[in-house]
Amino acid sequence: MATINENYLNLAGSYLFAEIAKRVTAFKNDNPEADIIRLGIGDVTRPLVPAVIESMHKAVDEMGSEETFHGYSPDFGYSFLLKTIIEHDYTARGIEIDEGEVFVSDGAKSDTGNIQEIFGANNIVAITDPVYPVYLDTNVMAGRTGKIGPDGRFEKIVYLPCNAENNFVPALPTEKVDMIYLCVPNNPTGTTLNKEQLKTWVDYAKENKVIILYDSAYEAFIAEDNVPHSIYEVEGAKDVAIEFRSFSKTAGFTGTRCAYTVIPKTVLAYTASGEAHPLNKLWARRVSTKFNGVPYIIQRAAEAVYSPAGQKQIKDTIKYYMTNAKLIREGLESIGLTVFGGVNAPYIWLKTPNGMDSWEFFDKLLTEAHLVGTPGSGFGPSGAGYFRLTSFGSYENTVAAVERIKTRIKL
Ligand code: MLT
Repeated sequence: MATINENYLNLAGSYLFAEIAKRVTAFKNDNPEADIIRLGIGDVTRPLVPAVIESMHKAVDEMGSEETFHGYSPDFGYSFLLKTIIEHDYTARGIEIDEGEVFVSDGAKSDTGNIQEIFGANNIVAITDPVYPVYLDTNVMAGRTGKIGPDGRFEKIVYLPCNAENNFVPALPTEKVDMIYLCVPNNPTGTTLNKEQLKTWVDYAKENKVIILYDSAYEAFIAEDNVPHSIYEVEGAKDVAIEFRSFSKTAGFTGTRCAYTVIPKTVLAYTASGEAHPLNKLWARRVSTKFNGVPYIIQRAAEAVYSPAGQKQIKDTIKYYMTNAKLIREGLESIGLTVFGGVNAPYIWLKTPNGMDSWEFFDKLLTEAHLVGTPGSGFGPSGAGYFRLTSFGSYENTVAAVERIKTRIKL
């Protein structure tokens, strides 16, 4: 008799965005004429930039000729991409990273989800609350949690609330933890930590032999000077932090799939008996066993993101989205809503009006304004009473969405 991984039975009903899609499809079936605007899942809408397309076309042609054809890619990425990443994202910021410390992958979702496999089953995980659901769900699947309680919190998980009261700055854990997920700029709240705040975390991690899993997928949206672009800008971080980056939001690769993870060779974790091991080696072993590398065409596309033309073009796209973010922020504020984020991140996090429940507000927006957002409570108990809108829609849809909230929603 085949048995199942019963940890899966501990998961909440369905993955947040699957649940939203289900509700929207049901509404659409009942109201086929409704012109729905989707500002729910953070999926980009602007096309890939010309520099990327040009590079992909060239790479496609190379694949069609015997002399330039490429089979399996190197498990950790082609050297041309690794070098380019290091030069632009690290060396340019005074951070020393070597090629053996970068792993090119098919997405930060996969990497932030899979990374827990190299950690001990009994590690205590801390997550900020609200949180990108992948960090939590993958640890539930791995059996690092108990059951979910009536308050929406899983046993054995340490929740670090981030809300308006603490200005979205999580407090250090007061109990023992082993792994901490931080996402800066933050999904879902759109808020950030500055260098001094991040330093507190790095110091804490060093003192307590804790690993920081630092998701920096929204780094390209940082506009303010005091927000670090990499955790390795903070002294000591190369001993305790793994950094995840992605081309998805940076360059419109949500459907193209390319990302990378950095594990400095100095990041150590321990056996039960206290013997130190570099996590870089464990991850390398995992990747080469379970992954055959990102396709050549896609890696050439990612490389083109860093060309002078590519950089200018993606910056224009980011500006486009951040114009939308400003529009949403200011539009909602003008009708008296309390709004966070949207300055260094493409997410706007708002307080639901009149203390309304997050899902209730979701239904209200969907039925009255035909607008889809994401209920804050779907990201964790501290997201209750909040709601997320993304700035990844088209400018026209964003204008229309704000107008619909202003005119169709009775606050
Ligand atoms: C989100 O909406 O939170 C993101 O699109 C999720 C993701 O990047 O996987």
